[in-house]
Amino acid sequence: MQQDMILIIDAGSDKNARLAREIRALGVYTEIYPYSIEKAELDKLVGVKGVIINGGVNGEGVKVSDAVLNCGYPTVAYDYEGSPALPEDDGEREAAIKELIFDKWNAERNWNAENFIADQIELIRQQVGDRKVLLALSGGVDSSVVAALLIKAIGDKLTCVHVNHGLLRKGEPEEVVRVFRDELGANLVYVDAADRFLDKLAGVDAPEQKRKIIGAEFIRVFEEEARKLEGIEFLAQGTIYPDIIESGSGTHKAVKAHHNVGGLPEDLKFELVEPIKMLFKDEVRAVGLALGLPEGMVFRQPFPGPGLGVRCLGAITRDRLEALREADAILREEFQKNGLVGKVWQYFVAVPDVKSVGVRDNQRYEGWPAIIRAVNTVDAMTASIEEIPYSLLHHITDRITHEVEGINRVLYDLTPKPIGTIEWE
Ligand code: XMP
Repeated sequence: MQQDMILIIDAGSDKNARLAREIRALGVYTEIYPYSIEKAELDKLVGVKGVIINGGVNGEGVKVSDAVLNCGYPTVAYDYEGSPALPEDDGEREAAIKELIFDKWNAERNWNAENFIADQIELIRQQVGDRKVLLALSGGVDSSVVAALLIKAIGDKLTCVHVNHGLLRKGEPEEVVRVFRDELGANLVYVDAADRFLDKLAGVDAPEQKRKIIGAEFIRVFEEEARKLEGIEFLAQGTIYPDIIESGSGTHKAVKAHHNVGGLPEDLKFELVEPIKMLFKDEVRAVGLALGLPEGMVFRQPFPGPGLGVRCLGAITRDRLEALREADAILREEFQKNGLVGKVWQYFVAVPDVKSVGVRDNQRYEGWPAIIRAVNTVDAMTASIEEIPYSLLHHITDRITHEVEGINRVLYDLTPKPIGTIEWE
C-alpha cells in the first residue's frame, strides 16, 4: 500500500516536530528532512503530495538544496526568505494546514495504525527473510510494540530476551512472560538476573555509579544470552521518531540517525531492524492497541531504565527494595481504582535510607518513610505537582503503613521541577 506523504524540509525551524505531529494527527503521513537533502534521496520517496519548507529561528542564511527547489512537487515555504510563518494560534494553524494539504494538495487521510502494521509486516519480511532476529524486551511500550509487530511478521524467527534486573515493579516480569510467551506465543528467553545486579550494587550509594553499574551489567547479561543463541543476524530496536529528529532546530544536521545498539561488543555484528522509527509516541501506542497489546502495557507510565534502583535511595538493600516494591504496587493500584491513571503523567514511591520511630500494635516500630511523588509534565523538562484528594492520600497512607513490612510513615512530595528533578536520584 502506498500512502500519501507530505515532506517537511527543515530550513531552521524549531517547530518541525510539532508540524509533523499536527499533519499526522490529521491522518496524513509526513517526514522531516534536512534542507540539504540531495536528489538521490528525494527520488526514493514515494507518494509525495507536497513539500513544506519550514524556516524560522535559526534558519538565517540557510539555503535549501537545488534538489528541493527543483523537485517538481507543489511547494510552500513558511518563514523562509520573507514568506510568512504558519499561524501560532492552534485553531488558525490547523485551518491553514488543512487548507494546504487537503484543499490545495488533495492529500488523502490514509495514515493509520492498520495500514502501518500491514506495511511494516511486508517490509520486515523483505528485510529479514527467514533469518533470525533478537530483541531486548523490557516490557516498556516501545519494545513491546516492536515485539508484537515482529511476532506477526516472522513468528519464531524472533527471539525476545527479557532481563529481570531485580529492579522492576511488582508483577512486571510476570506480565511480560504472560503476554508474550503465553498469549502471543513468542520465543522468549526470560533471564532472572536479580541476584547478579543486587550483588554488584551492594554498598554503592552514588546515583550515577548505580546507573553505570546497572547499564553495564544489563549489556553483559544481554550479550551472554545473545552468544548462546545460534545464527542471529539482526537486532530489533524500539527506536522512535523523536530519537531520530535531533532536538532543537539542528539547521546543519537537521536529522540524524541515532543508532544506539546499547554498546554491544564489536564482534556481535547485527543488522538493525527498527520498525517504529518513524512513529511518534502516541502513534506507537495506537499501533500497540491495534496489535492487541493490553492497555496497561500500551499506556504504561514512563519507567526509568535503572528502575527501582534509583528509587531505593542510597545503597540498595533487599529488604528496603521489597518494601519499596510493595508500597509502589499499592500506590499504582489505588491510582488505577480512583481514575488517576492517564491524568497523572508519572507517579511512584521512593524510599530513603532513613528510619524513624513509630508505634505499631502498641510497640515501638522503627521503619522507613515511603515518599509519594505524582507529577504532570509535557516534556519531563519541567513538572508540576498533581493535586491528589486528601481522602485518597489518607487511604494510601493507611494501606502502606499497615500492609508493607518496614514502612511506618508516608510523605507526599510537593516539590515541582525545577527545583526537584522527577526522580530523587
Ligand atoms: P528527572 O529525574 O531527570 O527525570 O527529572 C525525567 C524523566 O526521565 C526519567 N529518568 C530516567 N530514564 N534512565 C531512564 O531511562 C534514567 O537513568 C533516568 N533517570 C530519570 C524519569 O523517570 C522521568 O520520566
